[in-house]
Amino acid sequence: MAQKKVLVAGASGYLGRYVVSEFAGRGYAVRALARDRNRLSGIGQNFEPDVSGLVAEVHIGDATDRPSLRGACNGVDIVFSCMRLTKPQHGVTSEEVDHLGNRALLEEALESGVKRFVYVSVFNADKMPDSDMVRAHELFVADLRASAMAYTVIRPTAYFNDMGMFFGFARKGHVFLFGDGSNRFNPIHGADLAKVCADAATDEGDREVAVGGPDTFTYDQTNLMAFEALGLSPKITHMPMWIGDAALFIIGFFNRPLGSIMSFALAVSRMENVAPSFGTRRLKDFYRELAAKC
Ligand SMILES: NC(=O)c1ccc[n+]([C@@H]2O[C@H](COP(=O)([O-])OP(=O)(O)OC[C@H]3O[C@@H](n4cnc5c(N)ncnc54)[C@H](OP(=O)(O)O)[C@@H]3O)[C@@H](O)[C@H]2O)c1
Repeated sequence: MAQKKVLVAGASGYLGRYVVSEFAGRGYAVRALARDRNRLSGIGQNFEPDVSGLVAEVHIGDATDRPSLRGACNGVDIVFSCMRLTKPQHGVTSEEVDHLGNRALLEEALESGVKRFVYVSVFNADKMPDSDMVRAHELFVADLRASAMAYTVIRPTAYFNDMGMFFGFARKGHVFLFGDGSNRFNPIHGADLAKVCADAATDEGDREVAVGGPDTFTYDQTNLMAFEALGLSPKITHMPMWIGDAALFIIGFFNRPLGSIMSFALAVSRMENVAPSFGTRRLKDFYRELAAKC
């Protein structure tokens, strides 16, 4: 049987690298869509793999530059995208990357005769209508549903790379949390989620898959675990949500891209976020690994 080809958009990111690795391990020829080839190299700060030697091809393109995406899907069977605005980039918004960038990629995929589009949005998107980032994701999901493309939408909870961010705060000795820290969620390791993403390439029809990790914690518990792994006595300050809302209002006024990223963090901290569990990798072990490299 001919080798299948998959385009991975967002290949240099946390999940994207694990997905490249998973597809390559399953025998797919992987074409990475990246803005900078060098960002595929080296182990990531949360141990995501170096994928420079795993990709068969690299298409250099930027979601905000439509012509740069031309030809990205030529000869491709499956498009997988976890491309999103991670951090502020010279005034670029989530709408431009998460929605319009992915829509441009979908148009390319349709023109190139791609068979399936696998897209990563978020779990509980319907409960976060005020988050710009979630809105941008869901506008793209609406485009996907309205298109002639067969699709799978993966809806994960939090990833271990976000837990790495909490670990970083704990390392500095003090964690500030919005809300009372009692909401529960089940974060998932990138390697576990990558299996769900690669499985989706062989789905039939249109599907949406909600997924979280194997263990459920409160926000307080995840931070206590980080302090424990570091051998530090815990210091957690809970801040009322209204302080976060006020900060978001001001930041969003002066810096919309940063506000759109922050709006997601606030939205998830105000609710329970427990999805059907999958995977075997434990947060405790991830924190131990992070602590070992400190
Ligand atoms: N992290 C979480 O906890 C979490 C939870 C639920 C759902 N999700 C969703 O899962 C997906 C992946 O998350 P992640 O944490 O793995 O993302 P990530 O590490 O932030 O990776 C984002 C990827 O998008 C690329 N990108 C950014 N701007 C681009 C542009 N203008 N043109 C082309 N590529 C661009 C980045 O490339 P560069 O390397 O060049 O920046 C990177 O490869 C996202 O859709 C996210 O919303 C994440």
